[in-house]
Amino acid sequence: MDAQPLLKVQGLKKYFSASGGGTGAHGKKGLLKAVDGVSFHIFKGETFGLVGESGCGKSTTGRSIVRLYDVTEGSIRFDGQDLAKMNERELKPYRKRMQTIFQDPYSSLNPGMNVTQLISEPLGIHGFKNKKENRETVLELLNKVGLKAEHADRYPHEFSGGQRQRISIARALSVKPEFILCDEPISALDVSVQAQVVNMLEDLQAEYGLTYLFIAHDLSMVRHISDRIGVMYLGKLVEMAPSDELYEHPAHPYTQALLAAIPVPNPKVRNVSVPALQADLPSPLSNLSGCKFASRCPFATERCRQEEPEWTEIGPGHFVACHLHDEKN
Ligand SMILES: Nc1ncnc2c1ncn2[C@@H]1O[C@H](COP(=O)(O)OP(=O)(O)OP(=O)(O)O)[C@@H](O)[C@H]1O
Ligand code: SF4
Ligand SMILES: [Mg+2]
Repeated sequence: MDAQPLLKVQGLKKYFSASGGGTGAHGKKGLLKAVDGVSFHIFKGETFGLVGESGCGKSTTGRSIVRLYDVTEGSIRFDGQDLAKMNERELKPYRKRMQTIFQDPYSSLNPGMNVTQLISEPLGIHGFKNKKENRETVLELLNKVGLKAEHADRYPHEFSGGQRQRISIARALSVKPEFILCDEPISALDVSVQAQVVNMLEDLQAEYGLTYLFIAHDLSMVRHISDRIGVMYLGKLVEMAPSDELYEHPAHPYTQALLAAIPVPNPKVRNVSVPALQADLPSPLSNLSGCKFASRCPFATERCRQEEPEWTEIGPGHFVACHLHDEKN
């Protein structure tokens, strides 16, 4: 791994205007703060895992980074250039360098295209038009993702979920990207297939020097593949650490609760007296002051409800936003 960030995200915000009667206290239309000031970086060749419950803003963070969305605020430095405010023309070269693999390969693959067309479509879009070369590239890519030449003329419905995800990966790889946003790429797959796809992603990463942002909603899936992990709660990062450090010394009560919820017991985490998450996630529209986790945190104090905890480094590369770990305690 190279000690140079390929991606540097600073103060990223993505707000949606809320529909369905979301009116703020002063009569303004409500804002849904899906991502509310997220900062992290990913080194070249690294896998950064992003976890948190459904609706906490993981996909919105990923989609903002690869500029599937316009960004409300903040910077997204990719190889030194800020993508956040670029227009479509300026983004064009980066569209090839950054690819996305989605959770549900069935809805992201056009059912009317066969595998050759699906895999070579991005090549056409990004300017490689030689037909023979395309075919060779397709066969080579199929081989890389563990499919066979005979699959090249079949259609998405003729494959299993795992095979479809392999097609999506081949399609993403076709333009030789440097960065891949993997948005829950294994969540919809059978448990037996999940490990195969993860192992394949790791092999491809080693072969092509790829950098991954790997999104998952539970921590059990990301430990193996991630070098570092960020934990999100209601649009903010609450903890970030190297993967093993996060599992062995989770510092934020939310991370501890997520780990406690993993079915395979982790003896180190079992000692932590954190009950499983009880109350539901508050609405992302509610304007909570202080720590956003306070309504569900067994350690919450009055201070937590008033004052937002600061992002503090508590060990090498281990950051947390929680009053239990700041200097005043
Ligand atoms: N296009 C959109 N328009 C309006 N609100 C949106 C849009 N996309 C997401 N949201 C809202 O933003 C918040 C974050 O959603 P997001 O999809 O990023 O969460 P997530 O962490 O990826 O969840 P999941 O694990 O379910 O995929 C949610 O409250 C969601 O309803
Ligand atoms: S700041 Fe307070 S409420 Fe928030 S996680 Fe820490 S202890 Fe819990
Ligand atoms: Mg999502």
